[in-house]
Amino acid sequence: MARNIIVALDIGTSTVETVIAETIRGEDAPRILGVGVVPSQGVRKGVVIDLGEVMISIRRSVEEARKSSGVPVRSVWLAVGGSHVSVSSSRGVVAVSRADGEISPEDVRRVISAAESFVAKNPNKELLHIIPRDFRVDNESGIKDPVGMHGVRLEVDTLIVECSAPFLKNILKCVEGAGFAVEDYVFSPLAAARAVLTKRQKELGVMLLDVGGGTASFVVYEEGVPLHAGVVPIGGGHITNDVAIGFRTHVDIAEEIKKMYGSCLPDEFSKRDTVRLAEFLPEDQNALQGKTAEGISYPRRELAEIVSARLQDLFEVLHKELKKAGRSGLLPAGVILVGGTSLLPGLAEVTKRELKLPVELGRLQDFYEGVDEKTAPVLATALGMVQWAHWKTCEPEGATFTDKVRHVNKHPFMKWLRSLLP
Ligand SMILES: Nc1ncnc2c1ncn2[C@@H]1O[C@H](COP(=O)(O)OP(=O)(O)OP(=O)(O)O)[C@@H](O)[C@H]1O
Ligand SMILES: [Mg+2]
Repeated sequence: MARNIIVALDIGTSTVETVIAETIRGEDAPRILGVGVVPSQGVRKGVVIDLGEVMISIRRSVEEARKSSGVPVRSVWLAVGGSHVSVSSSRGVVAVSRADGEISPEDVRRVISAAESFVAKNPNKELLHIIPRDFRVDNESGIKDPVGMHGVRLEVDTLIVECSAPFLKNILKCVEGAGFAVEDYVFSPLAAARAVLTKRQKELGVMLLDVGGGTASFVVYEEGVPLHAGVVPIGGGHITNDVAIGFRTHVDIAEEIKKMYGSCLPDEFSKRDTVRLAEFLPEDQNALQGKTAEGISYPRRELAEIVSARLQDLFEVLHKELKKAGRSGLLPAGVILVGGTSLLPGLAEVTKRELKLPVELGRLQDFYEGVDEKTAPVLATALGMVQWAHWKTCEPEGATFTDKVRHVNKHPFMKWLRSLLP
């Protein structure tokens, strides 16, 4: 019997991650068979700038995962992120079609189409998701699934996630050029949310914040549905660049210094806490700007100040976004951090202070048996993508309507998926 293999791919600015999993009949969750994490080349702020380099990075990442899993890879489920993704909202209204006023799945489909028709047409944009946030039947709002209810007028409020059509084409071209078909694509924080958020957190109100290399992307859930989302073009790579400038050193060295000694809490260090440059240089390269590297050291306090200054820019934007969503300081389940930059010591504390919300590092939900918890924040998007694929292929009928994030693209798979919508 053919095995049911899921391959998830997350092409980031800093790393390309592949997770290969298998769904086994009778088991609730897919089993992770292999993981590939390689440095990403040819991507900036989540946007492809060099097709050839990206193709090579994808091949390397998939190959690494394939070697440990031992299964061939033909197609992948792709996480789509980057600063070209934009989020807005749209409303739709229809008259309930049945004479007895009972709302049918067809009415729901029509009202979502009505909301879609209000999205400004732009040939340079591709609609990734149209997510119903709230239905209203006559004057009753706050309805999550209106099918079977009675009324005259059905309204929907939706969250619209769009991306740049040319940028999406480029990324699809890279995956296909690397030799893999694309099953489907999903906005990356929606995928990551599947790996680390609990149903209860999503009901209470929570922000998933993925701080990567070139971007920070987020999605805010409340009452189980995504309320708001976005991408901020600030990530760990910018912090590294600031360290390189501040300490007048090469970016590769700055990256190592940041990862080994970086922190978001300057007050934790005294003047005596320093980092020796010589620790990061090969022996034959210890001459720098006329001085020997032996004599050069950097104060850790200053390093943490550089890190914090860049993060301030991020918090300012996030604060505005939460305000826009009307949830500033008002998410009972707080912020859940993922992404490589979430490994920076003190990020949770400083996020808590700046956003005035409880903050935790993302922990994988029970179904990822065998995945090292330490890598969880970094692999969250790819792991969540596996879960997404599992859910789409195995349990479409079991999901409630509002769980279903409708994709509006030309992919034949999505036509099939759309036909499953109640
Ligand atoms: N231990 C660590 N401490 C601090 N930063 C770290 C650590 N490990 C990785 N990072 C940073 O995490 C970033 C990469 O994270 P990640 O792999 O999530 O990004 P990405 O998905 O490739 O990028 P993006 O999502 O922005 O396109 C890099 O900037 C790297 O410096
Ligand atoms: Mg990422």
